[in-house]
Amino acid sequence: MKVDDERLFTEAKSILEKNWRGSNTVPSPYLYPHQWNWDSGFIAIGYSHFNQGRAQKEILSLFEGQWKNGMLPHIIFRSNGSYFPNPEFWQTNLSKDSPKIKTSGITQPPVHAIAALYIYKNAKNKGKALSFLKDLYPRIKAFHKYLLTERDPENSGLVTVFHPWESGFDNSVRWDNALKRVKVMDLPGYRRVDNKKVSSEQRPTKESYDKYVYLIEIMKKHNYNIKKIYPLIPFKLKDIVFSSILYVANKSLIEIAELIGENHEEIDGWINKTKDNYFQYFCAGDEEYRLAYDYDVIIKKNVIKRTVASLIPIYTGLLSRDEAEGIFSYMKHSHFCKENCTHKHPVVTSMSVDEAEFNPLNYWRGPIWININWMLYKGLINYNFDEEAETLRKAVLELVSEHGFYEYYNPLTGEGLGTDNFSWTAAMVIDLIKGGENGR
Ligand code: SER
Repeated sequence: MKVDDERLFTEAKSILEKNWRGSNTVPSPYLYPHQWNWDSGFIAIGYSHFNQGRAQKEILSLFEGQWKNGMLPHIIFRSNGSYFPNPEFWQTNLSKDSPKIKTSGITQPPVHAIAALYIYKNAKNKGKALSFLKDLYPRIKAFHKYLLTERDPENSGLVTVFHPWESGFDNSVRWDNALKRVKVMDLPGYRRVDNKKVSSEQRPTKESYDKYVYLIEIMKKHNYNIKKIYPLIPFKLKDIVFSSILYVANKSLIEIAELIGENHEEIDGWINKTKDNYFQYFCAGDEEYRLAYDYDVIIKKNVIKRTVASLIPIYTGLLSRDEAEGIFSYMKHSHFCKENCTHKHPVVTSMSVDEAEFNPLNYWRGPIWININWMLYKGLINYNFDEEAETLRKAVLELVSEHGFYEYYNPLTGEGLGTDNFSWTAAMVIDLIKGGENGR
């Protein structure tokens, strides 16, 4: 199918325009009516190609929600839009670190330094972009420092998530075993909104939600004090995607430091620590697949499930060419998009179609996500797999052009799932169309 890039770009742009709320962009008007952490990062990359001011504002407004300990929360509540869990549920005023503005009490993957560098590189007005970077730099650095200290008592350079929502991969099979350890007690009454807005077969189960809520109850009970939470929370994993994004973000932060004349020794140290421990924690000696896996801190074991998270190391540049080729071979065929997938091209599914839990409709348990494919595309480019990267780029654009700007897609049919008018899908499409040399 031939994709009309100009038409697709115009449509993507109009989704971001529609979802813009004056200082930030909602991920989607109906299902997610507030500001989300990693969504804003991806969204800003889209804006960087046609509206520098808005791209900058998107990131700056997000950092209005930063906590005093550096934590950047996963949601900033910006409207009366109905959503659960709402601010009354989070009660972040229990923490001495929370800001005045209403936020959630957990974090999400740190894509902001990556986005800020895109904004600079794509900027028409470099002077304004430099002032933006100067303003933002200490705040991003404080966030990364929080992740590499409070969220990494092992001093590994890798981040521990306490909650599936922190990973962004909410109900992925990656978290199933760890969640089995979470024994729900004294659950408060709560009312979900998500499964009223989107068909429940496409959303996490009640059992999962009970556990999500219960984990937050534990954090509230300890006033969101990480030092108290860390030893006792029953869900604690070194997340391969989160840690990989942080590594790439630290590389971007070093470039930013150089642009604004800041010393980056401390960040160099963080990068080296991540490099030193990455393979030790994430590579489980999987002879058959040679893929990388998350690490469960409590049982000190890797989580051996074939999901797209295992392919994400290609995004970091930490792999040898040989290892990257291995990962590429999985992307191209076998587990992640077999012949029975609609798209002959490798638009990668969130989970191997061969895993018993694979479900083509359910959120992170099988469907295709565009931001993740974008990271894989960037990884292929970094290793100069140019032809393969182009095949993936075209396949993503074909999928969106044929089926619309959805939150996720059924890999067997291409059908759009979750919410429509999804901002990061639009933003990633814009970068895939306009990326050019800056796409590297
Ligand atoms: N992604 C979660 C949701 O679905 C929370 O951030 O609501």
